[in-house]
Amino acid sequence: MSTTRFLTGITTSGTPHLGNYVGSIRPSVRASQTPGVESFYFLADYHALIKIDEPARIQRSTLEIAASWLAAGLDPAHVTFYRQSDVPEIPELTWFLTCVTGKGVLNRAHAYKASVDKNTAAGVDPDADVTAGLFMYPVLMGADILMFNAHKVPVGRDQIQHIEMARDMAASFNHRYGEHFVPPQAEIEESVATLPGLDGRKMSKSYDNTIPLFSSREQLKKLIAGIKTDSRAPGEPKDTEGSALFQIYQAFASEEETAALRKAYAEGIAWGDAKTLLFERIDREIAPMRATYEDYMAHPEKVEALLLAGAKKARAIATPFMAQLRSAVGLRGLGSAVQAKAEKTSKAALAAFKQYREKDGLFYFKLVDTAGAVLLQSKGFESPKVAGQAIGQLQRDGAAGLAALQAQLEALDSSTHASAVQALVALAEAADAK
Ligand code: TRP
Repeated sequence: MSTTRFLTGITTSGTPHLGNYVGSIRPSVRASQTPGVESFYFLADYHALIKIDEPARIQRSTLEIAASWLAAGLDPAHVTFYRQSDVPEIPELTWFLTCVTGKGVLNRAHAYKASVDKNTAAGVDPDADVTAGLFMYPVLMGADILMFNAHKVPVGRDQIQHIEMARDMAASFNHRYGEHFVPPQAEIEESVATLPGLDGRKMSKSYDNTIPLFSSREQLKKLIAGIKTDSRAPGEPKDTEGSALFQIYQAFASEEETAALRKAYAEGIAWGDAKTLLFERIDREIAPMRATYEDYMAHPEKVEALLLAGAKKARAIATPFMAQLRSAVGLRGLGSAVQAKAEKTSKAALAAFKQYREKDGLFYFKLVDTAGAVLLQSKGFESPKVAGQAIGQLQRDGAAGLAALQAQLEALDSSTHASAVQALVALAEAADAK
């Protein structure tokens, strides 16, 4: 497969703001238009339940985020855009991964540890107010990613640890049950700056300093007027360094426009005029999307239909993959042959050594699989004891024994050789397990 699969989730816990737009929505929409890229974007509403217990807010946020991504140009015909909770295979996979994830690994997750540290510092129970949902957050996220075998996961730096955990889950599962998962990689957009908010700190809902992506023109203007500046008067040169207004402008403007504002700062532009420039520049980018956004907000049924169509596309992958995984772990129907023993021992039971004597008076052995195919054929030995020692060496040393005993064995073609090696490895494992 030559296409690269990108996947990212957006927790449905708030209203998209300019920081989300610059840091996530805009680069993701652009990336989704790159040839050779297959994109999966989803509304992580199961994740939202970990933080939010207001049902109406979750529903409202789901609509706002979906409408924002669509208005920003995400083309649902070209990408797979869905709501996590419409794909029941994801919570099922979460359980499979839960069973291969060390509890100690989850103990070390940053978000969980931060809560524990806070509680410890406050002198209360370390797990006070920590839900099992918060603790399990990385596993649900691992399931999101591994369900679709995504290669690249565009996320912020704070999420890198979660992607590493997803890699570990993929490896643990593959180790136990065979190669089912591709190890994902975090994709960190170095060039995307984090946007400062109204007060100059990082724009974030938790600081209450955001500018909503889709406010009305009037509201946008009013919010921009509230961006913190210093008290330099008109005519006094201004510093671009540390100026939130300048940084926000830069995230929207071309290089020439940015250079022009830099010059205006040096020449002492009045803060009021700089704010007007910023407002006009942002509005120029947002205005064409605003009508689309408002249309979706007024017609949630259109968004619902798009998300359900997206879930159908997602499940066309998830449903058969989950069936494969269920079978791999042993959640199988009982209609077909039931294997009597655990997988490993049954593999070992595949082949057996048979000793016999020929008319020439010599002692022989062969290795025969359950279907009766001969995997190894010895030459004649003088005594049954020597033949038995050769068998012992093969059982002990596996493939190395094969090489050592070459002269006592009939030549093997390469596919028989491969089967013989496999059978010997399985025999050795079964012997170890005893
Ligand atoms: N944890 C991510 C965040 O808070 C959201 C998320 C959930 C996610 N599942 C994901 C991101 C899978 C990438 C892939 O930003």
